[in-house]
Amino acid sequence: MIDPGDALNRLDEQLDQDSSVTILTGAGISAASGIPTFRGDDGLWEEFDPSELASPQGFQRDPETVWEWYDERRQMIAEAEPNQGHYALAEWDDAFPKLSLITQNVDGLHEEAGSESIIKLHGSIWEVSCWDNCDSSPGSWTDRTAPLEEIPPICPDCGGLVRPEVVWFGEQLDPAVLDASERSLNCDVFFTIGTSAEVHPAAGFITRASRQGAFTVEINPDTTSASGTVDLAVQEPAEEFLPRMNESLGIN
Ligand code: OAD
Repeated sequence: MIDPGDALNRLDEQLDQDSSVTILTGAGISAASGIPTFRGDDGLWEEFDPSELASPQGFQRDPETVWEWYDERRQMIAEAEPNQGHYALAEWDDAFPKLSLITQNVDGLHEEAGSESIIKLHGSIWEVSCWDNCDSSPGSWTDRTAPLEEIPPICPDCGGLVRPEVVWFGEQLDPAVLDASERSLNCDVFFTIGTSAEVHPAAGFITRASRQGAFTVEINPDTTSASGTVDLAVQEPAEEFLPRMNESLGIN
């Protein structure tokens, strides 16, 4: 395991304001905001079944149960605040003009912390759309009501079901979003922060960035399948390491 001081020195060698930097974040960046991660002993998928709650088939079978689960998560996220990890990354917008931030999170906490131009790989828990894609509904729209007034919520145009605009298991990612992510893999330094690197295509981004010549860095208190392949694995919580890194590299 690398000493945090050595990690900071190596990052200092790799980064300057001309560096193109790409960040991939996952649930771990929001853990310190009180939002549970998906995997691991306390993870959501230990208690809940993703095929019931995060798949089109599960929604088709039982939209009410799916919406009850999303309504609870929306209420919890509505009360959560960004943490020092989110705020530290928001400082990178000015520090690195060539920055891309890809997140698998649907919670919106990067925006709340001030990050701009976020590539939301798995959508947003605050966006909804008509399940039947009815002609009169506007594609997707923002609904921040938490708790919801009605479960399941109803499309204002056709009276059919509304779904959360998040990517479920078995669904394709938005091609434009995937394209933007893939273009950002051609970078000088690639950070993977707070993700177990289990879910594709995001999990594959690390190796793809590395093959294109990026110096790869993982920030995660635990070991993941990416830990052995990255150039630098920092085994610390993001909310602790990132503010220290900003201070050490003069990012503020
Ligand atoms: P996971 O729950 O799979 O992984 C979270 C990672 O965060 C783990 O590797 C933890 O070790 C790490 N972690 C925990 N606390 C941390 C902290 N304070 N700082 C840094 N890291 C920390 O979550 P994701 O990798 O985001 O998709 O999961 C990917 C996708 O799987 C999610 O977007 C979701 C899920 O199923 C869908 O719902 C489609």
